[in-house]
Amino acid sequence: MKRIIFLIFVIFTSCTSTEIPELTSGEEIYTARCSACHGSDFSGRVGPSLKADSNAAQMSDSYWVQTITKGMGSMPAQRLTDNEVTLVIEFIKSQY
Ligand code: HEC
Repeated sequence: MKRIIFLIFVIFTSCTSTEIPELTSGEEIYTARCSACHGSDFSGRVGPSLKADSNAAQMSDSYWVQTITKGMGSMPAQRLTDNEVTLVIEFIKSQY
């Protein structure tokens, strides 16, 4: 039991060391930062579909990271931490 409490403590303190307040789950990040343009069901609105049968689904993670952090065409770059970018990509791909 003590070990578990210690582990929770370690995980907790390692998460609070970042300066920017982070969104904690990929789903939260998607809803807050992507869904307005890509749709809450990933089927696309202003931006293209991100669903399993979309072009984006075939692309590598580095393409996704690049698109999210640098922007693409009329998609503005999203200001997210590396961790948030990883979380949101994992969340979207976990829906496939
Ligand atoms: C302001 C609207 C907007 C927001 C917010 C936005 N996007 Fe986009 N996104 C677009 C548009 C428009 C494109 C198409 C750009 C082009 O091809 O010129 C795009 C393209 C993409 C692509 C490439 C699609 C393809 O078929 O190659 C990916 C991946 C993507 N967005 C993911 C995201 C993720 C993840 C987020 C949230 C972190 C996000 N976008 C937020 C508008 C947006």
